[in-house]
Amino acid sequence: MPVIGLGTAAIPLPPHETLTSILIDAFEVGYKHFETASLYGTEEPLGKAVAKALELGLIKSRDEVFITSKLWTSDAHPDLLVPALKTSVQKLGLENMGSYGRVLQIGLSKVYVSNFGIKKLTQLLENTIIPPAVNQVEINPSWQQRKLREFCKQKGIHVSAWSPLGAYKTSYGTNAVLESPIIKEIACARQKSTAQIALRWIYEQGATANVKSFNKERMKQNLDIFDWELSEEESQKFSYIPQRRVHSGVNFVSENGPYRTLEELWDGDP
Ligand code: A2P
Repeated sequence: MPVIGLGTAAIPLPPHETLTSILIDAFEVGYKHFETASLYGTEEPLGKAVAKALELGLIKSRDEVFITSKLWTSDAHPDLLVPALKTSVQKLGLENMGSYGRVLQIGLSKVYVSNFGIKKLTQLLENTIIPPAVNQVEINPSWQQRKLREFCKQKGIHVSAWSPLGAYKTSYGTNAVLESPIIKEIACARQKSTAQIALRWIYEQGATANVKSFNKERMKQNLDIFDWELSEEESQKFSYIPQRRVHSGVNFVSENGPYRTLEELWDGDP
């Protein structure tokens, strides 16, 4: 799985055609890993962008591209699961490229979960014969998830980050990452952007990052984190960054849903 994935969640979403052309920009600057979800509404434009990238010769084969999509919670029922996966695969256009059967196979033999805390992972590990390969959760310098990451490491579960930049300048985001005085100081000394410092830190933690940008220059900048490293002293400074979730999750709890409280949603780690 390429270390930097392009996140495609956005509110509001650009029209599909515009989004497809933005995603072609991403192929042009070198992205090979894309993160979508049935909920985001970006599977279809992403599928079109993959087809166009093939047509333009930006990629030689579909196999070069790693795509993560997500089943939404309301489809996590035995009778809804396979139809929902099929819809996602169809929207991504994978059927047309002859990869449908195989992809499904991979999707069903590797388990990729998202937003699982230690309690949910423990329950899952106790009740499955296929342990999850990846857990995608919020990780950024202002929500570092050290305990969960340590747990995942012990269990051999790879951790992938959503909102690695704290969803900067979005309706639900924070400036606590890109405007952190600690990160700014490091960025200034290293002549890098604060985004690059945050992404490099995530990479050095052994996690992958799904970073959203629909701007070609920033997309490029976010990939440019591999030929330098943070010093030990710089890394240590991250432990002084105040910790707080970007997404409280309040929209995802309901009296009638699977998670009635934030405590339940986040496994007691609010
Ligand atoms: P844009 O799409 O205009 O680049 P996250 O990945 O944590 O959810 O953050 C996404 C937000 O951060 C988006 O608003 C995105 O805006 C912005 N962003 C992405 N890359 C950068 C960057 N290198 N510098 C500044 N802002 C960035």
